[in-house]
Amino acid sequence: MLRRLYHEQPAGFAFTPANQAWAEAQITKYPPGRQASAIIPLLWRAQEQQGWLTRAAIEHVADMLGLAYIRALEVATFYFMFQLQPTGSIAHIQICGTTSCMICGAEDLIAVCREKISPRPHTLSADGRFTWEEVECLGACANAPAAQIGKDYYEDLTAEQLRKLLDDLAGGLVPVPGPQNGRYASEPLTGLTSLTGQDSGRTRYNASVQRAVDLGDTVKRIDGTEVPLLTPWLKKPEPEPVTGAAGEATEPKPGAGRPADETGITVQEAGAESAGAVPGEPAAADAPSSAPVTTPEAPMPGTGAEAETPAAAAADGPQTPADAADVPGRKPAGPAAPRGLREEE
Ligand code: FES
Repeated sequence: MLRRLYHEQPAGFAFTPANQAWAEAQITKYPPGRQASAIIPLLWRAQEQQGWLTRAAIEHVADMLGLAYIRALEVATFYFMFQLQPTGSIAHIQICGTTSCMICGAEDLIAVCREKISPRPHTLSADGRFTWEEVECLGACANAPAAQIGKDYYEDLTAEQLRKLLDDLAGGLVPVPGPQNGRYASEPLTGLTSLTGQDSGRTRYNASVQRAVDLGDTVKRIDGTEVPLLTPWLKKPEPEPVTGAAGEATEPKPGAGRPADETGITVQEAGAESAGAVPGEPAAADAPSSAPVTTPEAPMPGTGAEAETPAAAAADGPQTPADAADVPGRKPAGPAAPRGLREEE
């Protein structure tokens, strides 16, 4: 599928103040010179804010990260999760069309979308409130057929239920996500047949649905005010520079600036045992070794590369490609060496 920017584009883009603060905080997660790694969360937040990715939004994110526009465009056009055309003002409906859902009725759900939204995917409904598309497996195969609407899954769907969901959304309601056939989660429809001892203490909905109901934001556009901005990594205390009596720098201590627990040790100084060490046994270096040790750098026996190890090469004498070429059976190192023998490979 060819993915390219939509033919009609708005003039500009700006994050809401809260989203801008969130985006700037995400960039600080990455070490200097690696800020470009924040591109996916920033593009995603731009899409969460306005429903789809405009050219202006992609360029805005590129500017924030000091990236060439083409680099940001490459990411936006590569991942199918980024919508490059307008989506419905209320919801974008994603119907899973992969095997389990296809067997269990996905085609009926797609027919409803064609009828009630638009005959073509990625096309706005007449009133501009809905769009739809077929997507690959949503990972809810045990509850097939499934659809993702906003941030939540609607599972065990029938065509009639999807119709009602669309009507409810159009009427300003946010239907309860999760299984639509009375199942709690993905257990058998007739109830648990194993682990029945665990079947107690339920909330009204399963944890995922309960969370969605509590937040109530299934189809809400995100402006950044939904949750407080948390940046605990920015609050780490900087270790104090350690200086001696004359003011000169001294060797820093691993626990400098770190609080000690009640035993007087810091986390850095807490005792630890090597995973391979056995108390009371001699260290590996002391143990007699009869078996050859293979390291990742060791050449495969029988490839003819054994003589290229530093120890073997030193013992054999010739070190230059010209020297090596003089030795019968020795292949010269360097660009002419066959694949697998060159150091960088
Ligand atoms: S096949 Fe539809 S969720 Fe996996």
